[in-house]
Amino acid sequence: MAPLTSPPAFACEQVAVRFGAFRAVSDVSLQLRSGQTLALIGPNGAGKTTLINAISGRVALASGRIRLGDVDITRLPVHRRAAAGLGRSFQIINIFHDMTVLENLRLAAQSRAFGWQPCWRPVSGWPALERRAREVAALVGLEDELDWPVTMLSHGKQRSVEIGIALIPDPKVLLLDEPLAGVGQAEIEPTMALLQQVRKGRSVLLVEHNMEAVDKIADEVVVMVSGEVLMQDRPSAVWANAEVRRLYLGSEAAPHA
Ligand SMILES: Nc1ncnc2c1ncn2[C@@H]1O[C@H](COP(=O)(O)OP(=O)(O)OP(=O)(O)O)[C@@H](O)[C@H]1O
Ligand SMILES: [Mg+2]
Repeated sequence: MAPLTSPPAFACEQVAVRFGAFRAVSDVSLQLRSGQTLALIGPNGAGKTTLINAISGRVALASGRIRLGDVDITRLPVHRRAAAGLGRSFQIINIFHDMTVLENLRLAAQSRAFGWQPCWRPVSGWPALERRAREVAALVGLEDELDWPVTMLSHGKQRSVEIGIALIPDPKVLLLDEPLAGVGQAEIEPTMALLQQVRKGRSVLLVEHNMEAVDKIADEVVVMVSGEVLMQDRPSAVWANAEVRRLYLGSEAAPHA
């Protein structure tokens, strides 16, 4: 676990998001320390994905501020937040299914290096992109599937591709929206091992409904209900909290019940 004294790598301050009159996220403040993994949990519709979208720049804030280290990124577009060191994966896997693993990763490296107009650039930088794609493939355990069309991979392996794409620019802060969603039982353990690997050396905000995974991976847990933060604490304190059990966990799903 990161020392408690390390400075925040990332912070949301009083962040609010509205869809018309509906308040999907209400005045949420949270901090990620350098090297910390913070899990964001809560019932369906609590506002977790909306908060991730607001942080990554896909949804506008009604009010509040977002900081990445010393930089106020509140008004930056998506690609500039990514360039500043913010990476993310999606609740519904977001990759090019007809392309191979290597093509997906290479395209991510290419768009990171050149934006979406690589044809205007000299090809001299391409070996470096290929190298980075292969390096990340090895990191996420896909070196044997490089030439496979993604559509032929299991859901767990498709998750690995998506996480690999997020890792291409080596982000300091990584937002993961339900990386275990849809992953078959047999692949939960390897995907959790991948998450443990990926979180090393960076700060991670992890949205997840799998509480065993949260218990193993997260340093701290933030509970969101109806757009608001209910509590933030160590996993064991969250599992023991009666209000959290009543509103989200029930008595069965909580680890150490
Ligand atoms: N684009 C949108 N327009 C209107 N309402 C939206 C929009 N996106 C999300 N919502 C609403 O905002 C609320 C929060 O949704 P969100 O997807 O953030 O929940 P969540 O915590 O991620 O849930 P889940 O655990 O099911 O993924 C929900 O009531 C949802 O219907
Ligand atoms: Mg969601």
